[in-house]
Amino acid sequence: MVNFLTLAHAVTLIAIAAASPLAIQQSAIQQSNPSTSGFNSNTDASPALKAALAGAASYHDRQAILFTEPPNAANITFTFINNTVTDGTGGTIALSTVNNFPALIGTEVAMAVGFVNPCGLNVPHSHPRANEFLTVIQGELVAGLVLELNDGSFGHVIGQPAPVKGPIPQVNVTLSNYKGMLFPQGETHFQFNPTCEPALFVAAFDSSDPGRTQIARNFFSNMPDEMLIASIGNDLEVLDAKRIAKFRDNIPNAFAVVMEECAVRCGLPH
Ligand SMILES: *[C@@H]1O[C@H](CO)[C@@H](O)[C@H](O)[C@H]1NC(C)=O
Ligand SMILES: *[C@@H]1O[C@H](CO)[C@@H](O)[C@H](O)[C@H]1NC(C)=O
Ligand SMILES: *[C@@H]1O[C@H](CO)[C@@H](O)[C@H](O)[C@H]1NC(C)=O
Repeated sequence: MVNFLTLAHAVTLIAIAAASPLAIQQSAIQQSNPSTSGFNSNTDASPALKAALAGAASYHDRQAILFTEPPNAANITFTFINNTVTDGTGGTIALSTVNNFPALIGTEVAMAVGFVNPCGLNVPHSHPRANEFLTVIQGELVAGLVLELNDGSFGHVIGQPAPVKGPIPQVNVTLSNYKGMLFPQGETHFQFNPTCEPALFVAAFDSSDPGRTQIARNFFSNMPDEMLIASIGNDLEVLDAKRIAKFRDNIPNAFAVVMEECAVRCGLPH
């Protein structure tokens, strides 16, 4: 079992192992635009390999599955990027989980490498099964975390105070130059790149199957209009069925979209 401190250590090592700042700057444009096709060498991980690993009772059994041709270590290596083609969005993420990297089965580790283009937004989301420790190794990101209210703050809990209205407190921070931030399991968070230069991060998860839940996409998924309208306070001047129909299908599902004000400032298409 891999604990969270070990993961933190791994992120630090990756950051240190990254190229020198000068080399990073020189390769920044290329690194910010990885191809989404041929993204890593393990996307088509075989169901048989997954099943075999999931059924391995001991580490010895596991080794027998993973290393059939020593010294070939292909089953425990993962190519995050293939950085050749412009993607044309606010960013791209390379992600290794049990779904595309079977060696992670039986561990509590997953990892992401994120390329956030100028003005790119990693839309508000959460990871239902993992803490995330994200470190910026190139450029700058503003990261935010919505705090969790205590049980009584929602109201209607017997013996608890009246519900709290208004915005829920949030913390946010500018990350650059190898500064990292922890996003606790299940909590809503986001990152965006407010600059006109690309940014790059690595993020470790303490689950091999962290999952991802998009806040806007989830809320406006397929619930009845009147349920959504009631949920935002029954104000038909703010939200009605016509408005929901207009934007529901256009809510980004992607890792990143472009923030309009920034795109104007940086002279980018949006
Ligand atoms: C990876 O694992 C599979 C399943 O055991 C095996 O067939 C394959 O040869 C392994 N590859 C290497 C390089 O060991
Ligand atoms: C990178 O992507 C290109 C274009 O999709 C592909 O031709 C090439 O084989 C890939 N390289 C690797 C190492 O996967
Ligand atoms: C960060 O927090 C400040 C102070 O609460 C707020 O004004 C600002 O809008 C926040 N930034 C983001 C990106 O949420």
